[in-house]
Amino acid sequence: MNEEKIGRIISPKGESEDNSLDLTLRPQKFSDYIGQDKVKNSLEITIQAAKGRGESIEHVLLYGAPGLGKTTLAHLIAREMGANVRVTTGPAIEKSGDLAAILSNLEEGDVLFIDEIHRLNKTVEEILYPAMEDYALDIILGKGPAARTVRIDLPRFTLIGATTKVSMLSAPLRDRFGHHHHLDFYENKDIAKIVERSAKILGVEIDSAAVAAIAARARRTPRVANRLLKRVRDYSAVKGDGCLSDNTCRDAFGMLEIDELGLDWVDRKILETIIDKFAGGPVGLNTIAAATGEEMETIEDVYEPYLIRLGFLDRSPRGRIATPHAYEHLGKQLKVKNEKLKI
Ligand code: ADE
Repeated sequence: MNEEKIGRIISPKGESEDNSLDLTLRPQKFSDYIGQDKVKNSLEITIQAAKGRGESIEHVLLYGAPGLGKTTLAHLIAREMGANVRVTTGPAIEKSGDLAAILSNLEEGDVLFIDEIHRLNKTVEEILYPAMEDYALDIILGKGPAARTVRIDLPRFTLIGATTKVSMLSAPLRDRFGHHHHLDFYENKDIAKIVERSAKILGVEIDSAAVAAIAARARRTPRVANRLLKRVRDYSAVKGDGCLSDNTCRDAFGMLEIDELGLDWVDRKILETIIDKFAGGPVGLNTIAAATGEEMETIEDVYEPYLIRLGFLDRSPRGRIATPHAYEHLGKQLKVKNEKLKI
């Protein structure tokens, strides 16, 4: 079994193979978008009010873990506004000239979506300030004492920034967004509805037990839910009769080594490392990364949030700690440490 592949199944980060699936399954209207009710309702009001005034909406910052629908929401906002959307990412804009070119090609009312906006470099970011605040582009002509600034007007546009790491955004950039929305992990019942909706769109026959089995393993993340659905569909097409049932799910997830809470072998390796090699912690993230062979960033962004959410992992100033729930889930004996005896 290819371990790397298994690891990627539960990853909420987008993989290229997801693109066409994401496009087919992506809701096209707010009424099709399941979950995140607070964010959705608030955005709908903002959009209706702006449309009533014939204006575009203020800049929007969407933040939350990967796979929770930030890109989908950005497209929905643009669609509801009847606006064109230009899509780019923080790391793709390397020089201030790249951003200047994007901004000067925008048209009145356009939506500019910048994913991973926390990865913009400082000089590029500074071009955004007057663009967001005054709809202006400041271009420096010449060098040294002869340098002068020319200001070019930009059309009114809406910037939608998405980030998984809001704390990495500078205060001046954060403050220039009129709307800040946090996307949280989904309720299980909403993930179940998303699985049902996606199965319908894909033309897959699925019973309620299979919906529940997939939803329980989806880490409360729509992208993971849709990816698991696709894997079980493939499994059933080859090994079963194409209909997704409780049995098909059990067999498929057994083969993929994904347990009933959606933990895969990497999650288990992380917890087992902390428990077996470091007596349950606290142990530093870099030590866990070295001991497991996973990258620190992947552990922090992909694995940890869900393990913390399940109550299996705690963060402390001295490092990560496996909780009694983690011991129980892995069937391990919790040894009581006696600090004085240094056991
Ligand atoms: N597919 C992915 N995310 C979704 C959502 N929030 N609602 C409906 N379908 C989805």
